[in-house]
Amino acid sequence: MTVDDTAPAVVEVHGLSKTFGQVAALRDVSLTVGRGEIVVLLGLSGSGKTTLLRHINGLESPTSGSLTVLGEDLGALRGRELRKMRGRIGMVFQQFHLVSRLTVLENVLTGALAGLRGPRLGIAAYPRDLRRRALSQLDRVGLLDKAYQRADTLSGGQQQRVAIARALMQSPEILLADEPVASLDPESSDQVMALLREIAAENQLTVVCSLHQVELALVWGQRIVGMRSGSVVLDSPAAEMTRETAMRIYGRMTASLAESK
Ligand SMILES: Nc1ncnc2c1ncn2[C@@H]1O[C@H](COP(=O)(O)OP(=O)(O)O)[C@@H](O)[C@H]1O
Ligand SMILES: [Mg+2]
Repeated sequence: MTVDDTAPAVVEVHGLSKTFGQVAALRDVSLTVGRGEIVVLLGLSGSGKTTLLRHINGLESPTSGSLTVLGEDLGALRGRELRKMRGRIGMVFQQFHLVSRLTVLENVLTGALAGLRGPRLGIAAYPRDLRRRALSQLDRVGLLDKAYQRADTLSGGQQQRVAIARALMQSPEILLADEPVASLDPESSDQVMALLREIAAENQLTVVCSLHQVELALVWGQRIVGMRSGSVVLDSPAAEMTRETAMRIYGRMTASLAESK
């Protein structure tokens, strides 16, 4: 898929640093993401991936630097405006965060709660058009036949696909996926990554996805942004990257360890 270079950037991060007490979680990070791009943030645990994603979603505020997301300066947004912005950004997590005792369909419907007033109990409490949309999202992720099953009866890979359907209910313009396949077996991982890529292409959806496995990043990323100790140490199209280059993200010691395997 081609990215329109003339379109305004969807995410622009400038000189972003974040410290938690003594810990520098992000150091002078700059990053521009265009509409429809799929960017993989690749780095070891502790390299700052989650912290960067949380900044893009406005859940953390920078110690220094700035972020422009969907054309808005995040630092200038407060209260209702910030919540509105968050409504344009979908999130998917490693641990799925489904409500296990609810049906799959109800879990998907909760993705629309931000646009509704008050909590809803039971499927019938949601407007018919939303129920129809939720079913079509479930169909999109290949799980229509599971709609009325309890969420905790599904496999991990299926649960993550439900979480993706839930995120799509808010018609996001950006999807942030924080290690979406870290708890999954290789086959389910590939299914989930393939789904993210298809959805991004179909909907011109921008996806920023963190991963810690080089192999997955090389197969599924269009562009790989390597992070180490809070800094961006590499930013390149996946097609131009070899496993050896990608391993540099992990530093010399881990690279030689991996090579000796
Ligand atoms: N709320 C927090 N309070 C203190 N330290 C934090 C907090 N969030 C993240 N950190 C630290 O910031 C660094 C980056 O963490 P994180 O963004 O979670 O990395 P990753 O997602 O790549 O594993 C780590 O050293 C982590 O311990
Ligand atoms: Mg993380």
